[in-house]
Amino acid sequence: MCGIVGAIAERNVVPILVEGLRRLEYRGYDSAGLAVVNGADGLKRVRTPGKVAALDALLEDEPVQGGLGIAHTRWATHGVPNEANAHPHICRDQVAVVHNGIIENYAEIRAEQERLGYEFASDTDTEVIATRIHFHLEQGAGLVEAVRKTTGELEGAYAIGVVDTREPDRIVGARMGPPLLVGLGVGEHFLTSDVAALIPVTQRFLVLEDGDIAELERDRVTVYDRSGEVVEREESLSELSADAVERGQYRHYMQKEIFEQPEAIANTLEGRIHGSRVLEAAFGPDAKAIFNRVQSVQIVACGTSFHAGLVARNWFEGLAGIPCNVEVASEFRYRHPVPRADALVVAISQSGETADTLAAVRGAREIGFGPVLSIVNAPESSLVRESDLVLMTRAGPEIGVASTKAFTTQLTALLLLVVALGRRRALSSESEHRIVEQLRSLPGVCERVLALDEHVHSLAGRFADKHHALFLGRGVQYPVAMEGALKLKEISYIHAEAYPAGELKHGPLALVDADMPVVAVAPNDALLEKLKSNLEEVRARGGELYVFADQNAGVRPSPSVHVLEVPPMGEHITPIVYTIPLQLLAYYAAVLKGTDIDQPRNLAKSVTVE
Ligand code: M6R
Repeated sequence: MCGIVGAIAERNVVPILVEGLRRLEYRGYDSAGLAVVNGADGLKRVRTPGKVAALDALLEDEPVQGGLGIAHTRWATHGVPNEANAHPHICRDQVAVVHNGIIENYAEIRAEQERLGYEFASDTDTEVIATRIHFHLEQGAGLVEAVRKTTGELEGAYAIGVVDTREPDRIVGARMGPPLLVGLGVGEHFLTSDVAALIPVTQRFLVLEDGDIAELERDRVTVYDRSGEVVEREESLSELSADAVERGQYRHYMQKEIFEQPEAIANTLEGRIHGSRVLEAAFGPDAKAIFNRVQSVQIVACGTSFHAGLVARNWFEGLAGIPCNVEVASEFRYRHPVPRADALVVAISQSGETADTLAAVRGAREIGFGPVLSIVNAPESSLVRESDLVLMTRAGPEIGVASTKAFTTQLTALLLLVVALGRRRALSSESEHRIVEQLRSLPGVCERVLALDEHVHSLAGRFADKHHALFLGRGVQYPVAMEGALKLKEISYIHAEAYPAGELKHGPLALVDADMPVVAVAPNDALLEKLKSNLEEVRARGGELYVFADQNAGVRPSPSVHVLEVPPMGEHITPIVYTIPLQLLAYYAAVLKGTDIDQPRNLAKSVTVE
């Protein structure tokens, strides 16, 4: 949540900051702001509620410039999204701070600062950081030292960028929890919470570790570790290209990302299957030894990634004979689960920065669970660094807040893992061959389903005036229905819930009438006939059904039963493929409702706070 950009250069850094914010806006878009230090003019701050476009418009009216600055796009935690709460926060026109994270003891610090005579202009937890740094500067500390003393007093999570008009040749950054990286240029250096922000200016990065403080000057970068010693952090080269985060011909990032799925899935599979086998080496050199010890699987994840975990549980248990537990990370971390040393902890995350997922992984280690394997999309993320094994999903940058290609590539990666572990248990080599064959067919099958786009578009027209919807699935399709419901509610604001179809008669059937569209996922699988009976229960109560069904499923259309015929495919890949029409349905319903599809209200792409 929230995006940070900082830059120190010989040139005016304002265009770099604004472009960086635009690229980071997916992390939060409640407000945007920047502050630059410009010689005799001192500190200039411009900020506004709303999006980066609003900041840009303000800058057109009141241009500012400077060779050193910090900028921020906010996802509100403390205080409503108004100008006063927008970052950067400034203390006495001298110190400016941008912050991502949550300071848990901010109320105590604020009371102490007020006692010392500091006045506060916002409701944020961030402002205490600015005043506290100012306090230490007044006590004689230099900027780096003042940041060190201040961060030593903070409880909670933070990534910060700080400038001080009295030291106009440096930016100081500090990290504990949320990501913070230093971008390396020639005679210019940058700070960011995500490499994507800086791709137009550099691909060379240092990833800061927890407790690090970075001092950026034009000609050098110095990193201090938590004990204050100068340390070398390894330089990495990002593979992102500038146009990977452009929207191209598409109207929304979400639409682009839906249509990128065949290619993204092909990338996930590349080099990981050979002939009719899954290559264990894809999981890293230690995979064999670790997999040999695994007796069960504990999955932790949030949101869409949690749904991927629920699908995978069906595969782990049903195909591989491996006991598998799946839990929302924010629950797992506080539940005191009984640890199993022979359980492989599988963390699933697009961003690799989700605070709850990271905490669940750390907690699992602490209490004695087995090694951690992460399925992640962002290569430079914290989760990648903290895992014993990693399988990158290679979906490419996902900018739309609603997760689409991340989900289908997570499922693809999970199916590879199911095979790699399952061949040590119940999975025969014939089954492995069948699964690998079906995986190979996936990109092509996805293309064929994407060709149903226009039909889904026309069905979506019937949702635009609805306030509620039910999604039904059975077995491995139930989490697919959950994902469909999440997509619809998240971007169209239509209230949607998913149920295992067999649960209908235990309560939700009471909701069914002509105003409650019921969406069902009906591949030609072992539960199809059961599902059809459940759909009859809906029809008999005057419900309007939208069934995404296999061509051979025998689901007949009627005035109240709308059928989208999906081409036949291998049974193991159905959860991956059937997700796609649900994504399209949510997308077109939202287009018709005119919502902000890529940046739906109240949400952010990367949830780096608890
Ligand atoms: O980056 P992660 O996969 O860890 O994010 C988890 C959830 O916040 C995320 O999947 C969220 O539910 C999506 N925006 C839903 O579309």
